[in-house]
Amino acid sequence: MDFSLSEEQLMIQQAAKDFAQNELLPGIVERDDAQKFPWELVEKMAGLGFMGMMVDEKYGGSGLDTLSYVLAMEELSKVDASASVMVSVNNSLVCWGLDAFGTEAQKEKYLTRLASGEVIGAFCLSEPEAGSDATSQKTTAIDKGDHYILNGTKNWITNGSSAEIYLVIAQTDTEKGHRGINALIVEKGMDGFEIGPKENKLGIRGSDTHSLIFNDVKIPKENRIGEDGFGFKFAMKTLSGGRIGIAAQALGIAAGAYELSKKYAKERKAFGTEIANHQAIAFKLADMHTKIQAARYLVYQAACDKDAGKDYSLSGAMAKLYASEVAMETAVEAVQIHGGNGFVKEYHVERLMRDAKITQIYEGTSEIQKMVISRSILKD
Ligand code: CAA
Ligand code: FAD
Repeated sequence: MDFSLSEEQLMIQQAAKDFAQNELLPGIVERDDAQKFPWELVEKMAGLGFMGMMVDEKYGGSGLDTLSYVLAMEELSKVDASASVMVSVNNSLVCWGLDAFGTEAQKEKYLTRLASGEVIGAFCLSEPEAGSDATSQKTTAIDKGDHYILNGTKNWITNGSSAEIYLVIAQTDTEKGHRGINALIVEKGMDGFEIGPKENKLGIRGSDTHSLIFNDVKIPKENRIGEDGFGFKFAMKTLSGGRIGIAAQALGIAAGAYELSKKYAKERKAFGTEIANHQAIAFKLADMHTKIQAARYLVYQAACDKDAGKDYSLSGAMAKLYASEVAMETAVEAVQIHGGNGFVKEYHVERLMRDAKITQIYEGTSEIQKMVISRSILKD
Protein backbone atom coordinates (compact mmCIF):
# COMPACT_ATOMS: atom_id res chain seq x y z
CA MET A 1 0.00 0.00 0.00
CA ASP A 2 1.45 3.32 -1.04
CA PHE A 3 -0.56 6.37 -0.10
CA SER A 4 1.97 8.98 -1.18
CA LEU A 5 -0.03 11.90 -2.52
CA SER A 6 0.44 13.53 -5.92
CA GLU A 7 1.06 17.28 -6.35
CA GLU A 8 -2.56 17.68 -7.40
CA GLN A 9 -3.89 15.77 -4.39
CA LEU A 10 -1.74 17.84 -2.02
CA MET A 11 -3.07 21.01 -3.65
CA ILE A 12 -6.68 19.94 -3.16
CA GLN A 13 -5.98 19.00 0.45
CA GLN A 14 -4.43 22.43 1.07
CA ALA A 15 -7.30 24.25 -0.69
CA ALA A 16 -9.86 22.46 1.49
CA LYS A 17 -7.80 23.16 4.63
CA ASP A 18 -7.54 26.88 3.79
CA PHE A 19 -11.23 27.10 2.97
CA ALA A 20 -12.17 25.37 6.24
CA GLN A 21 -9.98 27.69 8.33
CA ASN A 22 -10.74 30.93 6.49
CA GLU A 23 -14.37 30.53 5.47
CA LEU A 24 -15.99 27.79 7.54
CA LEU A 25 -14.50 28.44 10.98
CA PRO A 26 -15.70 32.07 11.28
CA GLY A 27 -19.34 32.00 12.40
CA ILE A 28 -19.52 28.26 12.93
CA VAL A 29 -20.83 28.48 16.51
CA GLU A 30 -23.56 30.90 15.41
CA ARG A 31 -24.51 28.72 12.43
CA ASP A 32 -24.71 25.68 14.71
CA ASP A 33 -26.95 27.57 17.16
CA ALA A 34 -29.17 28.99 14.43
CA GLN A 35 -29.23 25.71 12.43
CA LYS A 36 -28.30 27.60 9.30
CA PHE A 37 -25.87 27.23 6.43
CA PRO A 38 -25.79 30.25 4.11
CA TRP A 39 -26.04 29.55 0.39
CA GLU A 40 -23.10 31.90 -0.11
CA LEU A 41 -20.83 29.24 1.44
CA VAL A 42 -22.19 26.60 -0.94
CA GLU A 43 -21.37 28.95 -3.81
CA LYS A 44 -17.82 29.30 -2.51
CA MET A 45 -17.42 25.53 -2.24
CA ALA A 46 -18.80 25.23 -5.77
CA GLY A 47 -16.26 27.83 -6.90
CA LEU A 48 -13.49 25.59 -5.57
CA GLY A 49 -14.91 22.63 -7.47
CA PHE A 50 -15.97 20.73 -4.33
CA MET A 51 -19.55 19.97 -5.37
CA GLY A 52 -18.83 17.57 -8.23
CA MET A 53 -15.29 16.45 -7.53
CA MET A 54 -15.38 13.04 -9.24
CA VAL A 55 -17.56 14.08 -12.19
CA ASP A 56 -15.98 14.58 -15.60
CA GLU A 57 -15.35 18.21 -16.58
CA LYS A 58 -17.65 17.60 -19.57
CA TYR A 59 -20.56 17.53 -17.09
CA GLY A 60 -19.41 20.46 -14.97
CA GLY A 61 -17.32 18.46 -12.50
CA SER A 62 -13.68 18.62 -11.42
CA GLY A 63 -12.64 15.25 -12.92
CA LEU A 64 -10.72 14.18 -9.80
CA ASP A 65 -10.22 10.79 -8.18
CA THR A 66 -11.87 9.44 -5.01
CA LEU A 67 -8.69 9.92 -2.98
CA SER A 68 -8.75 13.67 -3.73
CA TYR A 69 -12.38 13.72 -2.67
CA VAL A 70 -11.67 12.05 0.70
CA LEU A 71 -8.75 14.41 1.31
CA ALA A 72 -11.08 17.38 0.83
CA MET A 73 -13.81 15.76 2.94
CA GLU A 74 -11.35 15.19 5.80
CA GLU A 75 -10.19 18.81 5.84
CA LEU A 76 -13.72 20.29 5.64
CA SER A 77 -14.92 17.93 8.37
CA LYS A 78 -12.15 18.92 10.78
CA VAL A 79 -14.05 22.20 11.09
CA ASP A 80 -17.61 21.90 9.82
CA ALA A 81 -19.34 18.55 9.40
CA SER A 82 -22.55 20.32 8.31
CA ALA A 83 -20.71 21.64 5.28
CA SER A 84 -19.07 18.31 4.58
CA VAL A 85 -22.30 16.30 4.67
CA MET A 86 -23.71 18.63 1.99
CA VAL A 87 -20.59 17.99 -0.06
CA SER A 88 -20.74 14.26 0.58
CA VAL A 89 -24.39 13.80 -0.36
CA ASN A 90 -24.04 15.92 -3.48
CA ASN A 91 -20.83 14.23 -4.62
CA SER A 92 -21.04 10.60 -3.71
CA LEU A 93 -24.76 9.94 -3.67
CA VAL A 94 -26.40 12.33 -6.12
CA CYS A 95 -23.69 13.15 -8.69
CA TRP A 96 -22.05 9.73 -8.63
CA GLY A 97 -25.40 7.96 -8.91
CA LEU A 98 -26.39 10.01 -11.95
CA ASP A 99 -22.96 9.82 -13.50
CA ALA A 100 -22.74 6.04 -13.16
CA PHE A 101 -26.31 5.09 -14.09
CA GLY A 102 -28.05 8.12 -15.65
CA THR A 103 -28.89 8.46 -19.36
CA GLU A 104 -27.06 11.04 -21.46
CA ALA A 105 -30.19 13.24 -21.38
CA GLN A 106 -30.40 12.99 -17.55
CA LYS A 107 -26.72 13.90 -17.26
CA GLU A 108 -27.11 16.92 -19.50
CA LYS A 109 -30.27 18.11 -17.78
CA TYR A 110 -29.39 17.39 -14.14
CA LEU A 111 -25.80 16.29 -13.56
CA THR A 112 -24.21 19.37 -15.10
CA ARG A 113 -26.08 21.72 -12.77
CA LEU A 114 -25.40 19.51 -9.74
CA ALA A 115 -21.70 18.92 -10.39
CA SER A 116 -21.01 22.59 -10.97
CA GLY A 117 -22.80 23.39 -7.71
CA GLU A 118 -25.32 25.66 -9.40
CA VAL A 119 -27.90 23.58 -7.50
CA ILE A 120 -27.54 20.76 -4.98
CA GLY A 121 -29.27 17.42 -4.68
CA ALA A 122 -30.71 15.04 -2.11
CA PHE A 123 -30.80 11.25 -1.88
CA CYS A 124 -34.08 9.93 -0.56
CA LEU A 125 -34.13 6.32 0.59
CA SER A 126 -35.14 6.36 4.28
CA GLU A 127 -38.74 6.35 5.43
CA PRO A 128 -40.48 6.32 8.81
CA GLU A 129 -40.63 2.50 8.63
CA ALA A 130 -37.68 1.82 6.33
CA GLY A 131 -34.33 2.98 7.71
CA SER A 132 -31.87 0.12 8.17
CA ASP A 133 -34.48 -2.18 6.67
CA ALA A 134 -34.31 -0.32 3.39
CA THR A 135 -36.15 -2.87 1.22
CA SER A 136 -39.38 -2.20 3.21
CA GLN A 137 -40.25 0.81 1.04
CA LYS A 138 -43.78 2.15 1.54
CA THR A 139 -43.46 5.04 -0.91
CA THR A 140 -45.07 3.96 -4.16
CA ALA A 141 -44.36 4.88 -7.77
CA ILE A 142 -47.27 3.49 -9.74
CA ASP A 143 -46.59 2.88 -13.43
CA LYS A 144 -49.06 4.83 -15.59
CA GLY A 145 -47.53 4.21 -19.00
CA ASP A 146 -45.49 7.29 -19.82
CA HIS A 147 -45.19 8.44 -16.19
CA TYR A 148 -45.22 7.32 -12.55
CA ILE A 149 -47.48 8.59 -9.78
CA LEU A 150 -45.45 9.01 -6.60
CA ASN A 151 -47.00 8.84 -3.12
CA GLY A 152 -45.45 8.54 0.32
CA THR A 153 -43.11 10.07 2.87
CA LYS A 154 -39.32 10.13 3.12
CA ASN A 155 -37.65 10.86 6.47
CA TRP A 156 -34.48 12.62 7.61
CA ILE A 157 -33.44 13.82 4.16
CA THR A 158 -30.15 15.78 4.09
CA ASN A 159 -30.33 18.94 1.93
CA GLY A 160 -34.12 18.45 2.27
CA SER A 161 -35.01 22.08 1.64
CA SER A 162 -31.82 23.43 0.05
CA ALA A 163 -31.83 20.85 -2.76
CA GLU A 164 -33.46 21.40 -6.14
CA ILE A 165 -33.08 17.83 -7.43
CA TYR A 166 -34.05 14.72 -5.46
CA LEU A 167 -33.27 11.07 -6.21
CA VAL A 168 -36.24 9.24 -4.74
CA ILE A 169 -36.47 5.48 -4.20
CA ALA A 170 -39.97 4.02 -4.39
CA GLN A 171 -41.80 0.72 -4.80
CA THR A 172 -43.50 0.13 -8.15
CA ASP A 173 -44.34 -3.55 -7.92
CA THR A 174 -44.75 -4.95 -4.38
CA GLU A 175 -44.93 -8.53 -5.63
CA LYS A 176 -41.38 -8.29 -6.91
CA GLY A 177 -40.00 -7.16 -3.54
CA HIS A 178 -36.72 -5.25 -3.84
CA ARG A 179 -36.64 -6.06 -7.56
CA GLY A 180 -39.81 -3.98 -7.96
CA ILE A 181 -38.21 -0.76 -6.64
CA ASN A 182 -37.34 2.23 -8.85
CA ALA A 183 -35.17 5.35 -8.47
CA LEU A 184 -36.75 8.53 -9.84
CA ILE A 185 -35.46 12.05 -10.37
CA VAL A 186 -37.85 14.52 -8.74
CA GLU A 187 -37.62 18.30 -9.07
CA LYS A 188 -38.46 20.80 -6.34
CA GLY A 189 -41.74 22.52 -7.19
CA MET A 190 -43.39 19.54 -8.90
CA ASP A 191 -47.11 19.51 -8.10
CA GLY A 192 -47.85 17.51 -4.95
CA PHE A 193 -44.27 17.61 -3.59
CA GLU A 194 -44.09 19.14 -0.10
CA ILE A 195 -41.12 19.69 2.18
CA GLY A 196 -41.79 19.02 5.89
CA PRO A 197 -40.40 21.09 8.79
CA LYS A 198 -36.66 21.14 9.53
CA GLU A 199 -35.51 18.59 12.16
CA ASN A 200 -34.02 20.11 15.35
CA LYS A 201 -30.91 17.97 15.78
CA LEU A 202 -28.16 17.04 18.25
CA GLY A 203 -25.39 17.56 15.70
CA ILE A 204 -24.65 18.68 12.13
CA ARG A 205 -27.14 21.40 12.96
CA GLY A 206 -26.16 23.57 10.00
CA SER A 207 -27.26 20.79 7.66
CA ASP A 208 -30.97 20.97 6.75
CA THR A 209 -32.71 17.65 7.43
CA HIS A 210 -36.38 17.35 6.46
CA SER A 211 -39.10 14.85 5.79
CA LEU A 212 -40.51 14.98 2.26
CA ILE A 213 -44.12 14.29 1.36
CA PHE A 214 -45.30 13.17 -2.07
CA ASN A 215 -49.00 13.39 -2.93
CA ASP A 216 -49.78 12.13 -6.43
CA VAL A 217 -46.62 13.64 -7.90
CA LYS A 218 -46.43 12.95 -11.65
CA ILE A 219 -42.93 11.90 -12.68
CA PRO A 220 -42.15 11.40 -16.39
CA LYS A 221 -40.72 7.97 -17.21
CA GLU A 222 -37.58 9.51 -18.66
CA ASN A 223 -36.76 10.46 -15.02
CA ARG A 224 -36.33 6.84 -13.97
CA ILE A 225 -32.69 5.88 -13.38
CA GLY A 226 -31.75 2.59 -15.03
CA GLU A 227 -34.03 -0.27 -16.06
CA ASP A 228 -37.40 -0.93 -14.42
CA GLY A 229 -36.72 -2.51 -11.00
CA PHE A 230 -33.11 -1.28 -10.71
CA GLY A 231 -33.89 1.20 -7.90
CA PHE A 232 -32.78 -0.86 -4.91
CA LYS A 233 -29.53 -1.98 -6.56
CA PHE A 234 -29.00 1.67 -7.55
CA ALA A 235 -29.37 2.69 -3.90
CA MET A 236 -27.02 -0.02 -2.63
CA LYS A 237 -24.33 0.57 -5.25
CA THR A 238 -24.48 4.31 -4.65
CA LEU A 239 -24.33 3.90 -0.87
CA SER A 240 -21.23 1.70 -1.16
CA GLY A 241 -19.35 4.77 -2.40
CA GLY A 242 -21.27 7.16 -0.15
CA ARG A 243 -19.94 5.29 2.87
CA ILE A 244 -16.38 6.20 1.83
CA GLY A 245 -17.39 9.89 1.95
CA ILE A 246 -18.93 9.52 5.41
CA ALA A 247 -15.88 7.55 6.58
CA ALA A 248 -13.76 10.53 5.48
CA GLN A 249 -16.11 12.85 7.32
CA ALA A 250 -15.69 10.78 10.50
CA LEU A 251 -11.93 10.76 10.02
CA GLY A 252 -11.96 14.56 9.71
CA ILE A 253 -14.05 15.02 12.86
CA ALA A 254 -11.62 12.78 14.77
CA ALA A 255 -8.56 14.53 13.37
CA GLY A 256 -10.06 17.97 14.10
CA ALA A 257 -10.79 17.00 17.71
CA TYR A 258 -7.29 15.54 18.10
CA GLU A 259 -5.54 18.63 16.68
CA LEU A 260 -7.45 20.95 19.03
CA SER A 261 -6.68 18.65 21.98
CA LYS A 262 -2.96 18.43 21.27
CA LYS A 263 -2.69 22.21 21.04
CA TYR A 264 -4.71 22.72 24.21
CA ALA A 265 -2.73 20.09 26.16
CA LYS A 266 0.53 21.88 25.33
CA GLU A 267 -0.83 25.25 26.54
CA ARG A 268 -3.03 24.50 29.55
CA LYS A 269 -1.17 24.21 32.84
CA ALA A 270 -2.17 22.25 35.94
CA PHE A 271 -0.01 21.24 38.90
CA GLY A 272 2.80 23.49 37.66
CA THR A 273 3.18 22.02 34.18
CA GLU A 274 1.41 21.70 30.82
CA ILE A 275 -1.25 19.01 31.04
CA ALA A 276 0.44 17.21 28.10
CA ASN A 277 3.20 16.36 30.60
CA HIS A 278 0.76 14.32 32.67
CA GLN A 279 0.94 10.79 31.37
CA ALA A 280 -2.83 10.30 31.56
CA ILE A 281 -3.27 13.10 29.01
CA ALA A 282 -0.25 12.18 26.88
CA PHE A 283 -1.53 8.59 26.59
CA LYS A 284 -4.97 9.80 25.51
CA LEU A 285 -3.25 11.74 22.72
CA ALA A 286 -1.17 8.68 21.81
CA ASP A 287 -4.31 6.53 21.52
CA MET A 288 -6.09 9.19 19.46
CA HIS A 289 -3.17 9.60 17.07
CA THR A 290 -2.79 5.84 16.57
CA LYS A 291 -6.48 5.17 15.96
CA ILE A 292 -6.85 8.14 13.62
CA GLN A 293 -3.92 6.95 11.55
CA ALA A 294 -5.43 3.44 11.37
CA ALA A 295 -8.77 4.95 10.31
CA ARG A 296 -6.99 7.08 7.71
CA TYR A 297 -5.39 3.99 6.14
CA LEU A 298 -8.78 2.27 5.92
CA VAL A 299 -10.38 5.34 4.33
CA TYR A 300 -7.56 5.80 1.82
CA GLN A 301 -7.62 2.07 1.01
CA ALA A 302 -11.35 2.18 0.25
CA ALA A 303 -10.86 5.28 -1.94
CA CYS A 304 -7.95 3.63 -3.76
CA ASP A 305 -10.00 0.44 -4.29
CA LYS A 306 -12.69 2.55 -5.94
CA ASP A 307 -10.16 4.41 -8.08
CA ALA A 308 -8.55 1.12 -9.13
CA GLY A 309 -11.93 -0.27 -10.26
CA LYS A 310 -11.90 -2.92 -7.51
CA ASP A 311 -14.90 -3.91 -5.40
CA TYR A 312 -15.11 -1.36 -2.57
CA SER A 313 -18.28 -2.28 -0.71
CA LEU A 314 -16.31 -4.25 1.93
CA SER A 315 -13.44 -1.76 2.29
CA GLY A 316 -15.92 1.17 2.34
CA ALA A 317 -18.03 -0.46 5.07
CA MET A 318 -14.90 -1.25 7.13
CA ALA A 319 -13.67 2.33 6.75
CA LYS A 320 -17.03 3.77 7.77
CA LEU A 321 -17.45 1.42 10.73
CA TYR A 322 -13.99 2.05 12.13
CA ALA A 323 -13.64 5.76 11.36
CA SER A 324 -17.04 6.55 12.89
CA GLU A 325 -16.18 4.66 16.08
CA VAL A 326 -12.84 6.50 16.25
CA ALA A 327 -14.61 9.84 15.66
CA MET A 328 -16.98 9.29 18.57
CA GLU A 329 -14.28 8.01 20.93
CA THR A 330 -11.80 10.77 20.00
CA ALA A 331 -14.35 13.56 20.30
CA VAL A 332 -15.44 12.40 23.77
CA GLU A 333 -11.79 12.29 24.90
CA ALA A 334 -11.18 15.72 23.35
CA VAL A 335 -13.89 17.19 25.60
CA GLN A 336 -12.24 15.48 28.59
CA ILE A 337 -8.80 16.91 27.73
CA HIS A 338 -10.33 20.39 27.50
CA GLY A 339 -11.90 20.04 30.97
CA GLY A 340 -14.56 22.69 31.67
CA ASN A 341 -13.63 24.55 28.51
CA GLY A 342 -14.50 21.41 26.55
CA PHE A 343 -18.10 21.92 27.62
CA VAL A 344 -18.14 25.46 26.21
CA LYS A 345 -19.09 26.09 22.59
CA GLU A 346 -16.23 28.44 21.73
CA TYR A 347 -13.69 25.63 22.17
CA HIS A 348 -15.37 23.63 19.34
CA VAL A 349 -14.83 20.12 20.73
CA GLU A 350 -18.34 19.77 22.17
CA ARG A 351 -19.70 20.45 18.66
CA LEU A 352 -17.35 17.88 17.15
CA MET A 353 -18.59 15.39 19.78
CA ARG A 354 -22.22 16.09 18.85
CA ASP A 355 -21.37 15.91 15.13
CA ALA A 356 -19.42 12.65 15.51
CA LYS A 357 -22.49 10.72 16.64
CA ILE A 358 -24.29 10.92 13.31
CA THR A 359 -21.44 9.19 11.49
CA GLN A 360 -22.37 5.99 13.39
CA ILE A 361 -25.98 6.29 12.21
CA TYR A 362 -26.42 7.61 8.66
CA GLU A 363 -25.54 5.84 5.43
CA GLY A 364 -26.02 2.63 7.38
CA THR A 365 -25.59 2.34 11.15
CA SER A 366 -22.52 0.64 12.65
CA GLU A 367 -24.65 -2.48 13.10
CA ILE A 368 -25.53 -2.41 9.37
CA GLN A 369 -21.85 -2.01 8.44
CA LYS A 370 -21.13 -5.12 10.53
CA MET A 371 -23.88 -6.91 8.61
CA VAL A 372 -22.33 -5.88 5.27
CA ILE A 373 -18.81 -6.82 6.44
CA SER A 374 -19.77 -10.17 7.99
CA ARG A 375 -21.86 -11.20 4.96
CA SER A 376 -18.94 -10.34 2.70
CA ILE A 377 -16.26 -12.19 4.66
CA LEU A 378 -18.45 -15.24 5.29
CA LYS A 379 -19.82 -15.67 1.78
CA ASP A 380 -16.99 -17.89 0.57
N1 CAA B 1 -24.20 -3.46 -4.28
C1 CAA B 1 -25.06 -4.00 -5.16
N2 CAA B 1 -26.14 -4.74 -4.80
C2 CAA B 1 -26.34 -4.92 -3.50
C3 CAA B 1 -25.48 -4.39 -2.51
C4 CAA B 1 -24.38 -3.62 -2.96
N3 CAA B 1 -23.52 -3.06 -2.09
N4 CAA B 1 -25.97 -4.74 -1.30
C5 CAA B 1 -27.08 -5.46 -1.51
N5 CAA B 1 -27.29 -5.56 -2.83
C6 CAA B 1 -28.37 -6.29 -3.50
C7 CAA B 1 -28.34 -7.78 -3.17
O1 CAA B 1 -27.49 -8.47 -4.05
C8 CAA B 1 -29.80 -8.18 -3.36
O2 CAA B 1 -30.10 -8.34 -4.71
P1 CAA B 1 -30.41 -9.83 -5.35
O3 CAA B 1 -31.47 -10.42 -4.48
O4 CAA B 1 -30.85 -9.52 -6.73
O5 CAA B 1 -29.12 -10.56 -5.26
C9 CAA B 1 -30.54 -6.94 -2.92
O6 CAA B 1 -29.63 -5.83 -3.00
C10 CAA B 1 -31.08 -7.04 -1.51
O7 CAA B 1 -29.96 -7.31 -0.66
P2 CAA B 1 -30.11 -8.11 0.70
O8 CAA B 1 -30.85 -9.37 0.48
O9 CAA B 1 -28.75 -8.18 1.29
O10 CAA B 1 -31.06 -7.11 1.49
P3 CAA B 1 -31.35 -6.92 3.03
O11 CAA B 1 -32.79 -6.62 3.20
O12 CAA B 1 -30.78 -8.05 3.82
O13 CAA B 1 -30.58 -5.53 3.39
C11 CAA B 1 -28.79 -4.01 3.79
C12 CAA B 1 -29.31 -5.24 3.03
C13 CAA B 1 -27.30 -3.97 3.50
C14 CAA B 1 -29.00 -4.12 5.28
C15 CAA B 1 -29.49 -2.73 3.25
O14 CAA B 1 -30.87 -2.75 3.52
C16 CAA B 1 -28.86 -1.48 3.80
O15 CAA B 1 -27.84 -1.03 3.32
N6 CAA B 1 -29.51 -0.81 4.83
C17 CAA B 1 -29.03 0.47 5.33
C18 CAA B 1 -29.66 1.58 4.57
C19 CAA B 1 -28.80 2.81 4.48
O16 CAA B 1 -27.58 2.75 4.46
N7 CAA B 1 -29.44 3.96 4.38
C20 CAA B 1 -28.74 5.18 4.18
C21 CAA B 1 -29.68 6.21 3.64
S1 CAA B 1 -28.84 7.56 2.83
C22 CAA B 1 -28.17 8.46 4.06
O17 CAA B 1 -28.20 8.09 5.20
C23 CAA B 1 -27.49 9.72 3.60
C24 CAA B 1 -27.00 10.56 4.70
O18 CAA B 1 -27.34 10.40 5.82
C25 CAA B 1 -26.11 11.64 4.48
P1 FAD C 1 -33.55 1.73 12.63
O1 FAD C 1 -33.38 1.00 11.36
O2 FAD C 1 -34.90 1.76 13.25
O3 FAD C 1 -32.49 1.16 13.67
C1 FAD C 1 -32.59 1.38 15.08
C2 FAD C 1 -31.45 0.61 15.75
O4 FAD C 1 -31.60 -0.81 15.48
C3 FAD C 1 -30.06 0.98 15.19
O5 FAD C 1 -29.11 0.93 16.22
C4 FAD C 1 -29.78 -0.11 14.19
O6 FAD C 1 -28.41 -0.31 13.93
C5 FAD C 1 -30.43 -1.30 14.87
N1 FAD C 1 -30.79 -2.35 13.91
C6 FAD C 1 -31.75 -2.30 12.94
N2 FAD C 1 -31.76 -3.46 12.25
C7 FAD C 1 -30.80 -4.24 12.78
C8 FAD C 1 -30.32 -5.56 12.49
N3 FAD C 1 -30.82 -6.30 11.50
N4 FAD C 1 -29.31 -6.05 13.24
C9 FAD C 1 -28.77 -5.30 14.25
N5 FAD C 1 -29.18 -4.07 14.57
C10 FAD C 1 -30.18 -3.54 13.84
N6 FAD C 1 -31.60 8.88 4.84
C11 FAD C 1 -31.69 9.10 3.51
O7 FAD C 1 -32.27 8.30 2.78
N7 FAD C 1 -31.16 10.24 2.98
C12 FAD C 1 -30.52 11.17 3.71
O8 FAD C 1 -30.05 12.18 3.18
C13 FAD C 1 -30.42 10.96 5.12
N8 FAD C 1 -29.83 11.89 5.92
C14 FAD C 1 -29.90 11.73 7.28
C15 FAD C 1 -29.44 12.76 8.10
C16 FAD C 1 -29.60 12.66 9.48
C17 FAD C 1 -29.16 13.79 10.35
C18 FAD C 1 -30.18 11.49 10.04
C19 FAD C 1 -30.39 11.36 11.53
C20 FAD C 1 -30.57 10.45 9.23
C21 FAD C 1 -30.44 10.56 7.85
N9 FAD C 1 -30.92 9.56 7.01
C22 FAD C 1 -30.99 9.77 5.65
C23 FAD C 1 -31.51 8.35 7.57
C24 FAD C 1 -30.48 7.35 8.06
O9 FAD C 1 -29.84 6.73 6.99
C25 FAD C 1 -31.21 6.34 8.96
O10 FAD C 1 -31.54 7.02 10.15
C26 FAD C 1 -30.36 5.11 9.26
O11 FAD C 1 -30.18 4.34 8.09
C27 FAD C 1 -30.98 4.24 10.37
O12 FAD C 1 -32.33 3.98 10.14
P2 FAD C 1 -33.42 4.24 11.31
O13 FAD C 1 -33.19 5.60 11.83
O14 FAD C 1 -34.76 3.88 10.78
O15 FAD C 1 -33.03 3.23 12.45
